[in-house]
Amino acid sequence: MQRLLLMATVGLIRSVSSFTSSLYAAKSLLAFASSSLVTSSSSPSRYYTFDGSCQPINSNSNNRLSRRSSSTSFSHGMMSKSAGSLEVVQFPCLGDNYGYLIHDPKTGQTAAVDTPCATSYKRELDKRGWKLTHILNTHHHSDHVGGNMALKSEGVKVFGPANDGNIPGIDVRLADNDTLSFSGANAVVMDVGGHTRGHIAYYFPEEKSAFVGDSLFALGCGRMFEGTPQQFWTSLQRLRNLPDDTSIYCAHEYTESNARFAMSVEPSNPNLVRRVEEIKAKRARGEPTVPSLLGEEKATNPFLRGDISSEIRNNVCASEGEDGASIFHKLRLRKDNFRG
Ligand SMILES: *[C@@H]1O[C@H](CO)[C@@H](O)[C@H](O)[C@H]1NC(C)=O
Repeated sequence: MQRLLLMATVGLIRSVSSFTSSLYAAKSLLAFASSSLVTSSSSPSRYYTFDGSCQPINSNSNNRLSRRSSSTSFSHGMMSKSAGSLEVVQFPCLGDNYGYLIHDPKTGQTAAVDTPCATSYKRELDKRGWKLTHILNTHHHSDHVGGNMALKSEGVKVFGPANDGNIPGIDVRLADNDTLSFSGANAVVMDVGGHTRGHIAYYFPEEKSAFVGDSLFALGCGRMFEGTPQQFWTSLQRLRNLPDDTSIYCAHEYTESNARFAMSVEPSNPNLVRRVEEIKAKRARGEPTVPSLLGEEKATNPFLRGDISSEIRNNVCASEGEDGASIFHKLRLRKDNFRG
């Protein structure tokens, strides 16, 4: 298992310009890209300092910050949540993306998870007097990396998947099971390829939080643009194995339309019926449905349930003994063509 421990210092934002993405054009071009499984070379444990010099892993001190209880508050349509010792700020970007900033009040380090739109990020940083130090990209689509160059200034390091498409300004290429040290917290890199071939998620075990990009959505999952059904299903199973109380921070507010599809394949699931009502009420109040807890997703998200729900299997006409990847593929195709 390859482990990288990376540490960054506080940097400065100088100039940020606006960016508009041509998401759908980019995605449709990507739909025909070739797919292959990501491989991660094994190498001895290493610890990377900000300037890239390499030291033995044991020089990393275990200065983990103590957990605080979670609290959520809303202001101006934005959510601030303290997850463990880190603060997470969530805000809408572009049409239906969520932007995220992760901030450590003790060290001042601040990470952007993806960069749909530089202007929104700059506004949220300025509002709080925070300086960006990290950009953590999940995959190469323009609504996730489009703001990278405008936000990258001195002191900002860009981290992203090693085996995906072009990540503008990338400094550190991450592979499966690499560990990224952000302030006192460790983020484990998970290869969750399928939406794109090298998509990664950032899992903060101490913070009970996972930033999953477009791999898993509340009640859904990303479209399979580059990966294979087996690859995507393996990724979803790995996410499903995280603890139930893990907050899943996905990159889009697609939950209401995902809910209509979920109800079309598993209408007798009482947990799903209850959740759909809660989702409708939240959206009617203009509130986000993200993050959700992994436990809720396991109980209600059809893309995590194809192998365990006989109702779903019947509704997608899966045969007796059909494997999880194949049922996942049937669900994904059905969702691609769903008009609900
Ligand atoms: C990463 O860890 C998981 C779970 O332990 C394992 O299944 C997977 O093979 C590892 N990946 C690599 C590239 O070693």
